[in-house]
Amino acid sequence: MGTELVQISSSVPAQPRECPEPGPRANPGSLGTSAEGSAKTFYIETFGCQMNVHDSEKVAGVLMSRGYQPVGSHEEAEIVLYNTCSIREKAAQKVFSRLGAFKKRGSGAAKVIGVLGCVAQQEGERFFERAPQVSLVCGSASYTKLPELLDQLESGRRRVSGLDLDTDECFETELTRRDNPCRAYLTIIEGCDQRCSFCVVPMTRGPERSRSSHKILEECRRLVDGGFTEIQLLGQIVNAWQDPAPQGLSFAELLVRVAEVPGLRRVRFTTSHPRYFTTDIIRAIEANPTLCDQVHLPAQSGSTSVLARMLRRYTREEYLEKTHCIQSARRAISLSTDIIVGFCGETQEDFEQTLSLLEEVQFDQVFSFKYSPRPRTAALGLEDTVPDEEKGRRLAELQEVQRRIQLRRYQALVGQDVEVLVEGYQPRTGQAVGRTTSNRVVNFSGSPEDVGRYLTVRVTSAGPNSLVGECTDRKGDSRPVPRARIGALPIGDSSGSALSGGAHGN
Ligand code: 5AD
Repeated sequence: MGTELVQISSSVPAQPRECPEPGPRANPGSLGTSAEGSAKTFYIETFGCQMNVHDSEKVAGVLMSRGYQPVGSHEEAEIVLYNTCSIREKAAQKVFSRLGAFKKRGSGAAKVIGVLGCVAQQEGERFFERAPQVSLVCGSASYTKLPELLDQLESGRRRVSGLDLDTDECFETELTRRDNPCRAYLTIIEGCDQRCSFCVVPMTRGPERSRSSHKILEECRRLVDGGFTEIQLLGQIVNAWQDPAPQGLSFAELLVRVAEVPGLRRVRFTTSHPRYFTTDIIRAIEANPTLCDQVHLPAQSGSTSVLARMLRRYTREEYLEKTHCIQSARRAISLSTDIIVGFCGETQEDFEQTLSLLEEVQFDQVFSFKYSPRPRTAALGLEDTVPDEEKGRRLAELQEVQRRIQLRRYQALVGQDVEVLVEGYQPRTGQAVGRTTSNRVVNFSGSPEDVGRYLTVRVTSAGPNSLVGECTDRKGDSRPVPRARIGALPIGDSSGSALSGGAHGN
């Protein structure tokens, strides 16, 4: 999900933090140190979803525990890494245009350039031919091998790759660099076994593998110790999580246990598959206000026959049953979704069923995409019947329908008081920006000190994507002082900001 999200890239962020994991720390001595004794430097640019953003945070941790220092641009860096996304063709092309631009400027000669993530997995060693300046190609299922691959590069190997998909390991790091000072991402399940016919993720991220509940809860406690009050649990299909630990917690039980970690105020999870969205998850949200009033539940289409061709394994009626159940919870829960328009064989009538699904559910946010055929997916066996121009027309119509729904829904909030976790501040406009528990963006007159605080804001006006308000509670909450902080050098992130991105899959 996530191209339409609000960006606050010029905001004043709090400093990124380094969160050490327990256990032996790698010696940051000679391996990450140049001949002159100065630290080596790296820069990571991330494309795509929150999973990718968080993978980059962990890759940064691996590099930093070897003595590498993050720098703010690729020009300054000795190692430049691109963490790529291949969910749609356009996303996959981005890395090639970056590499092309690099070559033209002639700035790549002395650098180590690496490609990580989904495009790396998809293209494999062909990358070395397409882009000879690339020295490292590594898919996310092989990130556990990164230290080994770095060893090989440091000892002079020109080209190294990690492309093994067949793994049952999760990417655990001794150190994770957290770039969002307000919300910590925490992966609970990697890979995907769903095989939706349009989706490349099972081929790029490998089979599903869940982290054990005790590791997850331990990480949550460490994050709270480090000053975080909001955690977002991540997985391509987050609610397919299965506890490998002897306790054998269900996903709903895990949510409750995470919500009970003292000091946590907000817990989100993304992305859920409707098929595994069971009522015990709704009961858990109802009973625990720490679990945010928000569920992202990708529908993909409102037409049962399109859903069947997508291999989604639910019908329109079953999807609506889930959303009605969520909407009849004791607390109002905001819903968002992902929609693909112009999938193989989608008729005008199918498309109208998707529009009517939007009217019926009344989502607070919809991430919508034109269908893009992807390598090695089952949908390649179907005819891509909808011409690109028609896909574009349907996308624009759908977005206009949803814009009107959102405007109505957001305007209905005018006059209400909402609690906002402040995520950024723009010195130019004096505006602070934050989010409500239901994930609505709120702008109000604030100060840099507001970042990280929970404030009450009265909504005074609304647009289709965000609210405007006035802070009614200047005292606010005192912000916990993070125990583990490091310098403010940002890691490059093309997805831009604390407020962008969304988990893939589903
Ligand atoms: N074409 C267009 N959109 C896609 N998505 C996934 N695969 C494709 C594709 N081949 C969308 C889905 C998914 C979101 C992350 O991206 O809506 O939920």
